[in-house]
Amino acid sequence: MSDPVLRTENLTKRFGGLTATDNLSLSLRGGRLQAVIGPNGAGKTTFFNLISGLLKPDSGRVFFRDRDITGLRPHEISRLGIKRTMQIKSVFNQISVMENLWITRQASQRFLHPFRPASRDRATRERVEQVLEQIGMTALAHRIAGTLSYGDVAMLEIGMALISEPKLLLLDEPICGMSPAETERAVAKIRELARQVDIVIIEHDMEVVFGLADDITVLAQGAILATGSPEEISNHERVREAYLGRPEDEDYLEEAADA
Ligand SMILES: Nc1ncnc2c1ncn2[C@@H]1O[C@H](COP(=O)(O)OP(=O)(O)OP(=O)(O)O)[C@@H](O)[C@H]1O
Ligand SMILES: [Mg+2]
Repeated sequence: MSDPVLRTENLTKRFGGLTATDNLSLSLRGGRLQAVIGPNGAGKTTFFNLISGLLKPDSGRVFFRDRDITGLRPHEISRLGIKRTMQIKSVFNQISVMENLWITRQASQRFLHPFRPASRDRATRERVEQVLEQIGMTALAHRIAGTLSYGDVAMLEIGMALISEPKLLLLDEPICGMSPAETERAVAKIRELARQVDIVIIEHDMEVVFGLADDITVLAQGAILATGSPEEISNHERVREAYLGRPEDEDYLEEAADA
């Protein structure tokens, strides 16, 4: 069994009287695609915010490859190789797909190299082309981002997270709002990416989660309800209870458990 890539220990975050994450201890193994699921308000995005440094925990610690990264600032964590996409999509609408990737790449390197040698432009171009290929958007390289479909914006955002060669990629509901055809394409791409980079994905669509993830962690009210393989999760009594009243998901769990 591989060493954990990411480990959290008793991670707690409160907003006033609300405990958004409650003593979360989680271990994410390398080479496995990990999903985090749970009802609205379960604390999934807060969990990502704590890992990526956007929020500081009230207590608990975060370790990335055995390094304690608790309390580091977002750009420091990003520089260590943890990149994320946001639940609310954000790309630069006025410029092309390629330029979005280019700018993100240059920005990520500015910390390391205050001057810009010409050779770096060539390296950047190569990297941009590589990522366009990885996200399946080579044909859309020159399209203005503001004119893209929702699914393509989501893929571009993944590309922007990928461009600086992350070691760990946190995807916050990348599929949300996609058409069925876009979903199918995105799932295939994410599966391909998972062979090159460790991925944690927050996702609402049960079919996507069960088709994609190696390991699933279920959050409810900030705490871990269960962790296991898709099969274990679909048979888990308390998980099924947590999803009661969501007929679509209930049906899906039913089918998955019977399969
Ligand atoms: N900055 C904040 N200030 C106050 N409360 C917050 C803040 N961020 C999150 N919360 C609250 O913490 C709880 C967990 O929110 P979070 O966004 O982590 O949930 P989530 O699991 O990502 O939900 P969703 O599926 O809707 O995205 C919610 O009750 C939310 O209202
Ligand atoms: Mg969220």
